[in-house]
Amino acid sequence: MPTETDVILDRCEQLATISSRPDRLERVHLSPEHKAANALVAEWMSEAGLSTWQDAAGNQCGRLEGREPGLPALLIGSHIDTVPDAGRYDGMLGVLLAIAVAARIHEKRTELPFALEVVAFSDEEGTRFGMALLGSRALAGTWNEDWWSLTDKDGITLAEAFQDFGLDPARLPGAFRRPENYVGYLETHIEQGPILEDHDRRLAVVTSIAGARRYAITITGKAGHAGGTPFDRRRDALVGASELVVEVERISKQRGVIGTVGRLQAFPGGVNVIPGRVELSLDLRAEFDDERDGALAEVWASAEEICSRRGLHLEKHELYRADAVPCDPRLMRAIGAGIRATGDAEPMAFWSRAGHDGMAVVALTPIAMLFLRCRGGISHHPDEAVKKADVAAALDAFEAAVLAVADD
Ligand code: GLV
Ligand code: MN
Ligand code: MN
Repeated sequence: MPTETDVILDRCEQLATISSRPDRLERVHLSPEHKAANALVAEWMSEAGLSTWQDAAGNQCGRLEGREPGLPALLIGSHIDTVPDAGRYDGMLGVLLAIAVAARIHEKRTELPFALEVVAFSDEEGTRFGMALLGSRALAGTWNEDWWSLTDKDGITLAEAFQDFGLDPARLPGAFRRPENYVGYLETHIEQGPILEDHDRRLAVVTSIAGARRYAITITGKAGHAGGTPFDRRRDALVGASELVVEVERISKQRGVIGTVGRLQAFPGGVNVIPGRVELSLDLRAEFDDERDGALAEVWASAEEICSRRGLHLEKHELYRADAVPCDPRLMRAIGAGIRATGDAEPMAFWSRAGHDGMAVVALTPIAMLFLRCRGGISHHPDEAVKKADVAAALDAFEAAVLAVADD
C-alpha cells in the first residue's frame, strides 16, 4: 500500500512528464501542457473531496467547506508552471502537499472555522511573458491592463494566449478575490538554497520573501568584419556586455545582494562578425528593497561608464518588480507550531532568496511559508531532489500549521 508521501512523489513524477519538450521539463503559462496539468490536478483535488474549478486567470482551484458552508477560506497551494529545463518539485510539490493536507482534513472530518481553498497558480516563474506572478496577481486583484500586450518569444500576446487557452480576457476580473473572503495564505516550497542542508535540518519558517527587479537590457555597438576591423575601431557590444556581467557579480557580492544575468544573446551571431548588439537580462534581489535599489543604481552607473568608454549605447527596460514581503507573525507562529509538531523543538527561520506567489497574494491576505530541505540546495535544474522523509515531515507540519491557524 503506497503511503501518502509515495503518492505525492509519484504525482510529482507524473506532472514532470507533462512538458512541451521531449528531453526536459518545461511547462509554461497558458500552454497546452498547462491545460493538461490543470486537468490532472483537478482530478486529484476531486479525489481529495474538493469541489474544483479553473478560475478566469487559469489558476486551478479546489475548495473544501469548513464547519459550515460559505466561510472565508485559508488559501493553500503553490504554482504549476516551470522554468526551462526545470526540476520536478519547485511549485508542484507545494500544490501536491496542499491537496494532501486537504485530503487529510476531509478524511478525518476535521471541522475547521474556515474553508480550505487549494490553488495551483498558473504562472509564478514568468518564463513565457517575462512578467512573473501573473496567476497570483490576478487572484489578488492587482492586475495591470498593460500586461495584455506582453509578448512571448513567438510574438503571441498575453491576450491571445488567454484566448488560445480558452479564457476570455474580458472576464479576468472574475478571478479577483475579495479580502473579506480569506483568512490567509500558506505555502510549502522547497528551500531552493543550501541553508537547511548545511544545518542538517528538514524544515524552516520563512520570515520574508526577497524583493526582486528584472530588466531587459540592450547594448548596441556596431557589427563589422572580425578580421579587418582593428581593435581601436571596434564597438563590440559583447565585450561591453561581458564587462557588465562581471560588474553585476562584483557589485552584488560587495553589497550582499543577489544579481544574476541569466540570458544573453549576441547579434548578428556570426563567428566572424563583431557583435553589434547584445540583449541580456538582469535579475537583482535582496532581503530589503533599499539594498536592492542601491545595488541597482551602482549597476547602472557602471553600465553607463562601460558603454561610454566603449562607444556603446545602453537601453534598459524593467520587466518585473516585486517588493520584499514580510510574512505575517500570526501565520508564522502557526508554521512554527506545525514544525514543532514534527519533533523539532526550535524551528529554523530565515528569509527566502527565491520569489514566490505569496509576494502577490499579500495584497489580498496575510501570508506565511514553510520551507523543506532540497538536495544540495539545487533548484531550477533537473537535479532538484528531496528526501521522502522530509516530504513526510513537511506534510505533517503543514497539516499541523493549518490546525494551528484554526486554534489561534
Ligand atoms: C522564482 O522561482 C524566482 O525566485 O525567480
Ligand atoms: Mn522557481
Ligand atoms: Mn517556485
